[in-house]
Amino acid sequence: MKKKLLITRKFPAHIVEPLQAYYDIEQWDEEELVMPREKLLASVADCEALWVTLEDQVDEELLEHAPHLKLVAQLAVGFNNIDIKALRKRGIMATNTPGVLTHTTADLVFGLLLATARRIPEGERYLREGKWKSWYPMQLVGKDVAGATIGIIGMGRIGQAVARRTIGFDMKVLYNNRRRRYEDEEMYGFRYAPLEDLLKKSDFVVIMTPYNSDTDKLIGAEELAMMKDDAVLINASRGGIIDEVALYETLKSGKLWAVGLDVFEQEPISMDHPLLTLPNVVALPHIGSASLKTREAMLNLNVRELVAYGKGAAVTNRIDY
Ligand code: GLV
Ligand code: GLV
Repeated sequence: MKKKLLITRKFPAHIVEPLQAYYDIEQWDEEELVMPREKLLASVADCEALWVTLEDQVDEELLEHAPHLKLVAQLAVGFNNIDIKALRKRGIMATNTPGVLTHTTADLVFGLLLATARRIPEGERYLREGKWKSWYPMQLVGKDVAGATIGIIGMGRIGQAVARRTIGFDMKVLYNNRRRRYEDEEMYGFRYAPLEDLLKKSDFVVIMTPYNSDTDKLIGAEELAMMKDDAVLINASRGGIIDEVALYETLKSGKLWAVGLDVFEQEPISMDHPLLTLPNVVALPHIGSASLKTREAMLNLNVRELVAYGKGAAVTNRIDY
């Protein structure tokens, strides 16, 4: 008898097809909508494998409903929606998508950097709203990226890829990370800085650290106050790392040049969220890894591990320890 696999979204048919040989598949039939929790809890009851996105909470409650579960595949590199400890306790494996989305996400961070510094979305709105009457010197003047100091919080694969992109912009790189990156320091001149130092000295602060209990609201009122008055803050990691109330208050007071956010505490963000009332907030719907090639690579990496498990081979890319 085949094992049962539950997929909580509708993924492209050609991606799912190779799994048919190993699994009886139940798949949620919506591409754009999350599988309702009640349905998920009911459907997971006889599953051995579960394929989720970052909006599905894989927690104690879910695991209690899933007595046969052995493998959770996560279509993301971040896995803060999965209670790894609870999985470990039950001997359930988990796998994610590291490596394949590094450059795509770093590209988006750079997009946000340029968009905020040079007011690109604001300029686009200005043009489309018919406000462009003439050229004048102080029209939509921005802030230079070239030559500025960037502070990267979290020097993992994506943080490093962002740092390397700054070389062509002649930027000075400060970084904060649990582990020193001596090779990067030597090879590229990137400099380690304690968080406080990084916040005080950077023109652009980029958050690239994973979200967990240590990084929950890592950037709050105090940290924002340390930043330069005309600094830019970028977050393409997880929303919970910034205290959004403090961020709104800070921006409202006139501090910070702009903020670029691809992630929010609540996703999707509510359309009456105060941050969306501010013109210097560039907000995107969590599209860091959204290139066609990378999304296919992420899906295929999950498929590879699901096939391995289906065959009785080793799941090699594991996050459950
Ligand atoms: C997306 O946010 C990811 O973690 O891959
Ligand atoms: C992601 O792959 C990271 O480690 O930053």
